[in-house]
Amino acid sequence: MSTPTTRRLSKFTTACALSLLLCACSKSDEPAVESPGKLIVQQNCKVCHAQGINGAPIIGNKKMWGPRITQGIPTLAEHAINGYGLMPAKGGNTELTDEQIIEAVTYMVAQAE
Ligand code: HEC
Repeated sequence: MSTPTTRRLSKFTTACALSLLLCACSKSDEPAVESPGKLIVQQNCKVCHAQGINGAPIIGNKKMWGPRITQGIPTLAEHAINGYGLMPAKGGNTELTDEQIIEAVTYMVAQAE
């Protein structure tokens, strides 16, 4: 037997369950959006890689990154760490650790895949 009250209650529980589900979903998506390399890139690499200064491959530009990505992240990271052509070692910030550069490169590559 369902009274108007129980019907309203069950609607309420369904809404709760749904919003919980939505919440759980958006939370599990977060790490992909907020990668640890993102902040490093914003603070150290965008100066050149946002506009393509001196021929720097532009972040998110698949044409520019495609041939570079085929080298693989370890090689790209090595180039970013030691410098490569007009790319200064560690983007000019020697305070950054090799691990941070790898994270930054991984983030940049993911933007162009
Ligand atoms: C002063 C400008 C400048 C800054 C700052 C800079 N880059 Fe670059 N980067 C370049 C240029 C120019 C190239 C292209 C070099 C070439 O192909 O001759 C490049 C190329 C690269 C490449 C491709 C290397 C390859 O093997 O093709 C990677 C990866 C890269 N940069 C990562 C980074 C990361 C990570 C940072 C931040 C920590 C950064 N860059 C900061 C100018 C810069």
